[in-house]
Amino acid sequence: MLTLNKILGVPCRLAKWQIHGFLKSFTFHPEKQLLHKLVLGIETSCDDTAAAVVDETGNILGEAIHSQTKVHLKTGGIIPSVAQQLHRENIEKIVKETLSASGITPNELSAIATTVKPGLALSLGVGLEYSTQLVNQYKKPFIPIHHMEAHALTIRITNKIDFPFLVLLVSGGHCLLAIVQGVSDFLLLGKSLDIAPGDMLDKVARRLSLIKHPAYSTMSGGKAIEHLAKQGNRLHFDFRHPLHFCRNCDFSFSGLQTAVDRMITQKEKEEGIEKGEILSCAADIAAAVQHTVASHIAKRTHRAILFCQQKGVLTPSNAVLVVSGGVASNLYIRKTLEIVTKATNCILLCPPLKLCTDNGIMIAWNGIEKLCAGLGILHNTEGIRYEPKCPLGVDISKQVQEAAIKVPSLKI
Ligand code: KG4
Ligand code: ZN
Repeated sequence: MLTLNKILGVPCRLAKWQIHGFLKSFTFHPEKQLLHKLVLGIETSCDDTAAAVVDETGNILGEAIHSQTKVHLKTGGIIPSVAQQLHRENIEKIVKETLSASGITPNELSAIATTVKPGLALSLGVGLEYSTQLVNQYKKPFIPIHHMEAHALTIRITNKIDFPFLVLLVSGGHCLLAIVQGVSDFLLLGKSLDIAPGDMLDKVARRLSLIKHPAYSTMSGGKAIEHLAKQGNRLHFDFRHPLHFCRNCDFSFSGLQTAVDRMITQKEKEEGIEKGEILSCAADIAAAVQHTVASHIAKRTHRAILFCQQKGVLTPSNAVLVVSGGVASNLYIRKTLEIVTKATNCILLCPPLKLCTDNGIMIAWNGIEKLCAGLGILHNTEGIRYEPKCPLGVDISKQVQEAAIKVPSLKI
């Protein structure tokens, strides 16, 4: 101990517990000492209260998430005031859990990044209010995050891909195709004209009363449809493909949902069952709906790839398509998109499943990306507002429409 004392320059008269405390302060935390950027990300835009601490290499130091899915499944959809209440009850616990798992104190953070757009107003408000309080308490920079931009850049945690690349975001609230030119630089090629595919699948799952089926009762609608579809034959039903004659990259799902609804009502009559009971042909309907959704998404994505290649935005031989968002966890949809990327010499990249759905990691990572690029860092929280509606990037969908690219048919 004497030698150690000499080396460390500790006076010899220190008590044992003091020496222990002194040595502890020298404990080597490579992830803390060598890296100087640590961002806490907070996500409350919809029905997940999530947080994470990520460093500039994409290392996840800690994370926590509270999902409201089970509660909303029981009420048959998200009730904003219920979501708000659940965010309020959980946000502090989730942030504390995240920090304690990370082994860091708020003082060690470089910045706090929080989703402020787009999303449910009441949900966004909880995250923003809590973050503002943290930011002011610890005097940290604040980085407001666009939820869809965060989804789009998540892939760069796991794959070091360069800009530009093409991204398809498909979730419960969104459906869009965009070129990612930089951290805050997006060109919107097309989006859903009505509802998002996840929302549509959730509605079909509810209409099929899958919540009453023990195997699917705790799954999100989209996941339940994917699992049920494995036992069905898609050829037993034939739904019209949306926007078949529109040569653009927009999407539409509400017409398909109405058609499926009508079909379910007709089958209920034929089978003589009441609304709420499970149809014998539910698996066939699930398979046909999933196929129609996958084909529609694939067709629009195919056109987007051809457009980017034609305009020289993506190199014909080395283009990257990134697919993310909750619906991107659907393996049938991924397989369908693989057919498209193979046919167009593209590389298909999807973040790991848990990063496809809403999470705090993608928000913290977007904060890191912005911090490194010196973009959107605020040192004053005054006047920051959440924005329930906020388009992504510069809309060039008119140019896509004018190009009117005919997509060759592929065997899906
Ligand atoms: O990205 P996300 O977690 O939240 C937002 O909507 O932003 O996506 C949730 C959506 C839900 O609509 C859910 O039904 C859908 O993603 N989803 C799926 C699957 N897993 C989740 N849709 C199709 N197949 C799945 N395996
Ligand atoms: Zn999302």
